[in-house]
Amino acid sequence: MMLKLVTSIAPLRDRVAEARRAGLQVGLVPTMGALHAGHVRLIEQARLECGCVVVSIFVNPLQFDRKDDLARYPRPLQADVAVCAAAGVDIVFAPTVEGMYPGEAECTVDVGRVADHLCGRYRPGHFRGMATVVLKLLQIVQPDRAYFGEKDAQQLAVIRHMARDFNVPVRIEGVATVRDADGLALSSRNQRLAPEERVLARSLHSLLREAERLVAEGERDPKQVTAIASGILPDDDRLRLEYLDVVDPEHIQPVERIEGPVLVAGALWVGSTRLIDNLLCHPSGAPQVAALPGT
Ligand code: PAF
Repeated sequence: MMLKLVTSIAPLRDRVAEARRAGLQVGLVPTMGALHAGHVRLIEQARLECGCVVVSIFVNPLQFDRKDDLARYPRPLQADVAVCAAAGVDIVFAPTVEGMYPGEAECTVDVGRVADHLCGRYRPGHFRGMATVVLKLLQIVQPDRAYFGEKDAQQLAVIRHMARDFNVPVRIEGVATVRDADGLALSSRNQRLAPEERVLARSLHSLLREAERLVAEGERDPKQVTAIASGILPDDDRLRLEYLDVVDPEHIQPVERIEGPVLVAGALWVGSTRLIDNLLCHPSGAPQVAALPGT
């Protein structure tokens, strides 16, 4: 199939119906654009498993808790379409804000306690807005599988719970985080870092690795893990650790003691850019699990 760029819902549904009539499985990769190698990894996974790959590109105003962040979010549509074409995407769905939200929305997704900690504590309404647009995209495209990065572990957990709780007939696939050579997780927000900030940004991954080492070497107290790991943050005015927390990977709740695999997740401000990352950490002697629990 040649790549088709579609900007409204009716023609998108026609294209997807065509693919279904041809007997193809449909894979959806929801994105907000500014595509990088992490997104390409999601597309590659979808390409392996589905005959028709749809990438949505939509900067969703509902999930931004700060107006300046929404305004600054990069929107390089042409470059993104070129990335999709090179990666073998069949359909790019790039709706307008009016197309996705034609009137004042009365209903949104109540995401429950999965959104109470980590980013949910610091970004009020973010996960409600994110889950609402993902549910809309799942309803619009009705894919067999939808692909999300494990870098946004809390987002992935919210989406898995939403799909289960609302009986959405889709497989939610988590895809491993893609990192630069120094460990920095790829993110559209990395583009905003000045060269010196880019160097400092690697410290988020270093904190997580330190936490991983402590857990693997037998530290069972999550408070000790976060205190010791955050202690290695370089002393620099441009760095501010918003949180570093240890939670259970499925429900994203704090743990009292580390008895099994835990998610160590952090958010670090580097200048005016907020970065997030996480590692699934296994205590010595606990059964190893390959990835976050699946749908
Ligand atoms: O991870 C993202 O890029 C967004 O949160 C998503 C899932 C595309 C919803 O807008």
